[in-house]
Amino acid sequence: MEPVVGAPIVADDAVRSVTVTVPATSANLGPGFDTLGLALSVYDTLTVSAFDDDRLEIEVAGSGAEEIATDADNLVFRSIAHVYADVGREVPGLRIHAVNGVPHGRGLGSSGAAVTAGILIAKGLLAGDVDLDDDALLRLATEMEGHPDNVAPALFGGLTIAWTGERGPQHKKLLVHRGVAPVVFVPGFTMSTSLARSLQPPQVSREDAVFNVSRSALLVAALTQSPELLLDATADRLHQDYRGPAMPETLRLVQALRAAGFAAVVSGAGPSVLVLADGPGARQRAVDVADAMTDTSWDAHMLAVDVRGGTVRDRAEGST
Ligand code: HSE
Repeated sequence: MEPVVGAPIVADDAVRSVTVTVPATSANLGPGFDTLGLALSVYDTLTVSAFDDDRLEIEVAGSGAEEIATDADNLVFRSIAHVYADVGREVPGLRIHAVNGVPHGRGLGSSGAAVTAGILIAKGLLAGDVDLDDDALLRLATEMEGHPDNVAPALFGGLTIAWTGERGPQHKKLLVHRGVAPVVFVPGFTMSTSLARSLQPPQVSREDAVFNVSRSALLVAALTQSPELLLDATADRLHQDYRGPAMPETLRLVQALRAAGFAAVVSGAGPSVLVLADGPGARQRAVDVADAMTDTSWDAHMLAVDVRGGTVRDRAEGST
């Protein structure tokens, strides 16, 4: 997951150009299904120019470049258009140049990153005409993504708790204890989020609900104050086992790592695995456990928690 370097093209006749950077995210973190998310230090970077016409030119480099639509079906473009429709403005002509560092379809928030990028691009292009506050950004992103747990950390960074209340999607950002050392294990295969969601039952027992309520409450304390509680705090009964048959190698790695004492979870809807290690030494030992798994090859990436979230820079004026 080395940063992918591209050569963004900014046209002289553009009326406005912005550059947006959005981090990878890991959602759920075990028990916090559709609620908890963590921003990680791998990024998509998009440079976008707006024009006084109706052109749409999209160029994608890096992860997923061969599969990502480059027409009006493109998720970044659809997210930009969603914001313009919401605020009653016409979408301008656009040239979008994306350099994707977030692994595509691996449970590290690639679709949330695309949605977040589109929302932030629209914010940057509309700045001075329409001002979008944090609640509006999260609402618009959640409307596109369907659930807020990836887009909240992608927008705001750090550890986020996201929920939907009477005022729509809301979030609380928390800073992670500096002793927490994330490592993600990325396989060569992908997993569909909609397939993963379809494998879960519509109802769960009260016992399982209480199990996850206790662990997710504990997880907030473990991630912010008490990393030694991470193994207990990352246990889940709401989604991982139900989804296991669609990604058996992922479940096997999670189980092997947990049996060895590591706080391992399925990252988002999978198939990547996230370990929240309690220091750099533990992180290396977790890599050794994954290396011993012979059924699948896992690319291990030692990452930092991104504390900033998505950024927008107006190429003419500096930052917004
Ligand atoms: N909470 C979501 C899920 C994250 O697990 O389905 C993946 O988009």
